Amino acid sequence: MPQIPVKSAKKVAIACDHGGLEMKVALIDMLAKDRYDVLDMGTNKTESVDYPDYAYELSRALIEEKAFRGVLICGSGIGISIAANRFPQIRAALIHDALGAKLCREHNNANVIAFGGRTLGIETARDCLNIFLNTDFKGGRHERRVAKLLNPHLM
Ligand code: RB5
Repeated sequence: MPQIPVKSAKKVAIACDHGGLEMKVALIDMLAKDRYDVLDMGTNKTESVDYPDYAYELSRALIEEKAFRGVLICGSGIGISIAANRFPQIRAALIHDALGAKLCREHNNANVIAFGGRTLGIETARDCLNIFLNTDFKGGRHERRVAKLLNPHLM
């Protein structure tokens, strides 16, 4: 029986506002070269758009299991990560370095990585994305903490 290459079964959703378009293009190129299946959710224009619209669309796609992880980019990464984190099922981490990319997976089971297209270099973003996609959640004591993120009203 031929084995399906693991990465071909893994779809990565990616979206940005106008402040993240250049970085999104570069990251899609990297993902395609690494043979990930990419769900490009826009924007694909340089005109000004509202980052919550893109964060919400991508978040819904993850919740509906249309992709296994997401990448969100706006100018700073701040607005788009705040918007995605409005959904309890989404754990979006705004990341600036390799250690953060590793820890957001190991400790927080982040399912979305967010970048600032105007604040982070493309090479660092590539490095962080690669780590984010290839690092497993550690579970154990982190399991309980991540479970508590689902409903703050129960705590
Ligand atoms: C858009 O100008 C900018 O505000 C947006 O990309 C982002 O940085 C918001 O957090």
